[in-house]
Amino acid sequence: LPDGLALTPPMGFNNWNATGCDINEQMIRDTADIFVSSGLKDAGYEYVNIDDCWAEPQRDPVTGRYVAHHERFPSGIKALADYVHGKGLKLGIYTSAGTETCARTMPGSLDHEELDAQTFADWGVDYLKYDNCHNQGRPAVERYTKMRDALKKTGRPIVYSICEWGQNKPWEWGKDVGHLWRTTGDITDSWTSVVSLFKQNAPLAPYAGPGHWNDPDMLEVGNGGMTDREYRSHFSLWSIMAAPLLIGSDLRKATPRTMEILRNREVIAVDQDALGVQGRVLRDAGGRWVLVKPLANGDVAVALFNETEETATFEVTAAELGLPKRPAYVVRDLWAHRSFESAGTFSASVPAHGTVMYRIKPGARNWWRQPPLPEYG
Ligand code: GLA
Repeated sequence: LPDGLALTPPMGFNNWNATGCDINEQMIRDTADIFVSSGLKDAGYEYVNIDDCWAEPQRDPVTGRYVAHHERFPSGIKALADYVHGKGLKLGIYTSAGTETCARTMPGSLDHEELDAQTFADWGVDYLKYDNCHNQGRPAVERYTKMRDALKKTGRPIVYSICEWGQNKPWEWGKDVGHLWRTTGDITDSWTSVVSLFKQNAPLAPYAGPGHWNDPDMLEVGNGGMTDREYRSHFSLWSIMAAPLLIGSDLRKATPRTMEILRNREVIAVDQDALGVQGRVLRDAGGRWVLVKPLANGDVAVALFNETEETATFEVTAAELGLPKRPAYVVRDLWAHRSFESAGTFSASVPAHGTVMYRIKPGARNWWRQPPLPEYG
């Protein structure tokens, strides 16, 4: 949506991948606390989002409004929003453009759009994920547009996430309806899922830009079904594709390795780059993928992604990456956190299921009298 919101892909948390329906207000508060104490907030994570199953099965008989689930959210959503806002963060919520949500534990918003949008706004909600279950066969564009208009009518800035699973090509109409749209079915905590979603989302690069993003679903980093190397590939691919970075694991149980992945500011900077271009596939040589993303300051980000089961050697040139011709380039390795100079052919040996990410700057270190790059640990 061209309203100045989500100018970079949304970053935050959503409980679904970790808990399913087993959610409660304590987890949301704890997550907000951890965002602040662990540096995730400083790294850019902002939205703390609640997924399905947060409401009572029945609307309030008098007002028709949603009622927060008495056991899971005894303090109510408004109090939770106040708590999250008190930490300098934002709160997100979920419902479906249907008669019920996907888990069928609470009503959807179909034909209740204005009342529900107003309820969310009254509570101080900052983000709505709007799902597609039990939609009565009614046209998607109509259902999603109705909620867009209802949200707009409240006057509250609310990021609007279209969760329609790519069924009606939302990339073709979503730009004027929401800030992001799911391009795929649901992610699972497995390597095959990550690879499959990557392959579905990557060709849609031309449709993404500031305020309107492709969404290949939330992160699984830290949930235990993949190796750390695979999780680094997942995070690298989502970042070079300018995907929303919504943490999907229980941060109260996060290992230092998980935190290290989620907090990699150099990779996050690629995702959050102000130019807002989704990286595109330069080549796919038998599962040895090269993706390239131009950045606002003239650098390019490159992901060398090895889908195969064996170590692979990659080589890519400055010309292939569309970089201007220079006598030298400064290459920053975004996972090793070190820099080196190159004459213009960039190579790497990448282990099975691994990804090397480079950020390449045209010119040698002191070219144009730039100060030398800082060295990180
Ligand atoms: C759908 C969505 C998921 C999640 C569940 C909740 O499957 O795609 O992301 O929100 O519903 O029931």
